[in-house]
Amino acid sequence: MMLAERMSRVSASPTLKVLVEAEKMRQRGIDVVEFGAGEPDFDTPAHIKAAAHAAIDAGFTKYTPAAGTAELKKAVADQYRRLYGIEYSPAEVIVTAGGKQALFNVAEVLFNKGNEVITHVPGWPTITEQIKLADAEPVVVRTYPEDGFALNADAFLHALTPSTKAIVINSPCNPTGALMSEAEMTRLVDEIENQGIWVILDLCYEQLIYEPVPHNLPKVLTDRMRARTILTGSASKTYAMTGWRCGWALGPAEVIAQTNALQSHSTSNVTSISQKAAVAALNGPQESVGQMLGEYRRRRDALHAWLTADPRITCVKPAGAFYLFVDVSELLSPDGVRTSAEFAQALLDEAHVALTAGEAFDAPGFLRISYATSMERLKEGSRRILDFVKKLDEAGKTPTATRV
Ligand SMILES: Cc1ncc(COP(=O)(O)O)c(C=O)c1O
Repeated sequence: MMLAERMSRVSASPTLKVLVEAEKMRQRGIDVVEFGAGEPDFDTPAHIKAAAHAAIDAGFTKYTPAAGTAELKKAVADQYRRLYGIEYSPAEVIVTAGGKQALFNVAEVLFNKGNEVITHVPGWPTITEQIKLADAEPVVVRTYPEDGFALNADAFLHALTPSTKAIVINSPCNPTGALMSEAEMTRLVDEIENQGIWVILDLCYEQLIYEPVPHNLPKVLTDRMRARTILTGSASKTYAMTGWRCGWALGPAEVIAQTNALQSHSTSNVTSISQKAAVAALNGPQESVGQMLGEYRRRRDALHAWLTADPRITCVKPAGAFYLFVDVSELLSPDGVRTSAEFAQALLDEAHVALTAGEAFDAPGFLRISYATSMERLKEGSRRILDFVKKLDEAGKTPTATRV
């Protein structure tokens, strides 16, 4: 079959593949502990659901403007003023089917063949795939567990070439939970503000930061290089609204107008009902955001302690998001489980724990554990993981030198 050439450059989301495999096992009646999900386990808060019911009852079920309702665009702009003290007008905001579509449309609108676009790994695989789909070339810079996976300006600066069109930064980062500091963003802006390079900041986990550390990257960017700054965000993770598909992009009116043109010929508006729900999420009470964050923090601390009880499992405590990015390289051996991908597969087959191997994030030797699940399941899952590691030992399949 002759498919379009561009499709030879992309592969399906590996993070979704894990969910599919685990689901098949569950359908066969197997009790799978699910650590693969990239979404909150919490229900969407009641007042948000109520707004959606009210929208349906009021007949708010027709097309809206492709770029989103005026009410929601204003709610997004208000939210970014509250969070960061920045000003965006409705013409500088577009409502999208999740942060994913916001990033996709921006890539399509900005990137050309021959452009290099820098991003960081371990990172969310969609970013590099979208760059490739837009005919540009992804250039990845690596972050390291020794530095807590910190996103440093130098790494980006070393990767600059005359072909660099943009830098895509995800902070807090999926899968590492690391943040870029304001100081590092300032250093980056110092160097690039006059070079015509865009910064696209993926703020999908912006409200899932555990300590009150300053993270006003939008202000650093917009104060200095607003004309080349794009911010993308989403209701998905903050408000437990992944299935509603509602996100947004903020940027110069000209770019937003072009993303609107693209969207108006593809998906058109985000579901009218979801838009009403998102207005309620952004304008309504915010207590549930803090409550969910508190629960994620308790889970992060407990899971981290349970797993690192085995000294060969090492793991940076994430500053944000809801994933532990665990280094299992010490448990791999040439005649046992050789790679983290094999580790993840064996763990699913033998211990019925579903998680995502580091390979999915361009980081072999690691596993991503989502702790967006109950404390009880986290306990059961970590028990299974530690037992699995012990069995590997007994079978002589972990490296002899470090076997306990
Ligand atoms: C880093 C990152 N950015 C953006 C998204 C987009 O999420 P959504 O399209 O649900 O807003 C995700 C989802 O997993 C993500 O992990």
